[in-house]
Amino acid sequence: MVEEFRNALMALPKPRLADLFAENASRVDDLTVNLSGIRFDFSKTHLDAQALALLQQIAETQALADKREALFSGAVVNATEGRAAEHAAERGSGGADAVAQAKALQARMRGLIEVIEAGAFGEIAHILHIGIGGSALGPKLLVDALGRDGAAYDVKVVSNIDGAALAEAVRDMDPHKTLVAVASKTFTTTETLLNATSALQWLRDGGVEDPYGQVIALTAKPEKAVEWGIDESRILPFAESVGGRYSLWCSIGFPFAAALGWGAYEELLEGAAAMDRHFRNAPLRQNAPVLAAFADQFYAQGQGCETRAVFAYDERLRLLPAYLQQLEMESNGKSVTADGKPLGGHSAPVTWGGVGTDAQHAVFQLLHQGTHLIPVEFIASIAPGHDFDLAHHETLLVNCFAQGAALMQGKTSDDPARSYVGDRPSTTILLDDVTPATLGALIAFYEHRTFVNAVLMGINPFDQFGVELGKEIAKGIAENGAEGFDPSTSALIAAAGL
Ligand code: F6P
Repeated sequence: MVEEFRNALMALPKPRLADLFAENASRVDDLTVNLSGIRFDFSKTHLDAQALALLQQIAETQALADKREALFSGAVVNATEGRAAEHAAERGSGGADAVAQAKALQARMRGLIEVIEAGAFGEIAHILHIGIGGSALGPKLLVDALGRDGAAYDVKVVSNIDGAALAEAVRDMDPHKTLVAVASKTFTTTETLLNATSALQWLRDGGVEDPYGQVIALTAKPEKAVEWGIDESRILPFAESVGGRYSLWCSIGFPFAAALGWGAYEELLEGAAAMDRHFRNAPLRQNAPVLAAFADQFYAQGQGCETRAVFAYDERLRLLPAYLQQLEMESNGKSVTADGKPLGGHSAPVTWGGVGTDAQHAVFQLLHQGTHLIPVEFIASIAPGHDFDLAHHETLLVNCFAQGAALMQGKTSDDPARSYVGDRPSTTILLDDVTPATLGALIAFYEHRTFVNAVLMGINPFDQFGVELGKEIAKGIAENGAEGFDPSTSALIAAAGL
């Protein structure tokens, strides 16, 4: 972030939250955005008139509005890789060519689903989706959140290269009834290709005569999938300009569309498109992704917060924190600005979290009484995801709201060990229900928030060169063993007998 802005954020006063509420009777309304069946409540953050004015000035100086339009219009916003970032076009919010390409892909996806349903692959009961990072986290989240009841197929997502993950996934699958979806944007990722090769072998060992006939590819490199042995008719190619961690909207989302139905997939896309429209059109101070990013920067730059915590108070969203870790940290975990200058200050905070109420009995002690200031995000749904005794859901929501209140209120006591300083910030995101539409809008909200954070800091959020060095070194070890490494690494390699 530009030094002058960082200094100004650091110099901002931090009035107590209780005082901010006392001074402004309409604070909840002023800092709440209702949209697409989701209530975003930023009122328990320290954003006040002064902070908002400064952050708006930073946004304007950093040309947020122009950069946002560049993003949606398909301009090159990822300069280091010389490409656009056209994930929003997959849900219809983009340049005409990219939207047309996305629609053509959707027609192809839909056609393939119909072919599968018609029995061209035999009787399919399971989808084994193999991918990693952005090629796994999105579909896994979607299927876990929305596919608990009434999914047409049993979907398992395998990402880790540890063979135990694949072994566990296929344990209860019938190879004759399994469709293998190999998901990889680049079709070069070691983990995915090894897992895919082993899955082919599993099909073969299970007596499937034409194992390749049961494999489809979801990729931006169809030629590589063909080279690997997959017939072109079973490849769902997506655009190079869709980044891996933004790819659940395109064919990487195939298992969700197949298992939950085309209608659900369209609702997901429309939910995201509604968030796109809001992000493009709402004034900055009533714009959910913008306000969220303003709070992020207030804490990260101004208060030196190094982490932010996200707790899903809904079992259906239990994988959301893991999804957000890639989205936020792979996008904005950088040390240089988009023009190659040292960033100065912090880049993305570490995103971490878990599920409520479990986390209350594990990590909330530190949130309430530890010395770190950690902005917390609560996500909950008014409607439950089950039809058990409603007491479960009511207790869940009661706990969610109680934690936000407790963080803010604090408690004084004569005994220091029993005192809570309070004034700890939180954001609450309350969904009417977890549906394809609300989940689509929620994920798009996080994408845009990540983008706004990048703009405010001056980062390119669309590359990820930081993941490459480890891959290169792993290749070196695989090829050359212990030779040529530091003594510790060489000793470890030797100790493992590699
Ligand atoms: O190594 C990081 C990464 O490139 C992520 O950005 C990506 O989501 C993941 O690996 C998987 O890549 P691919 O889809 O090309 O297999």
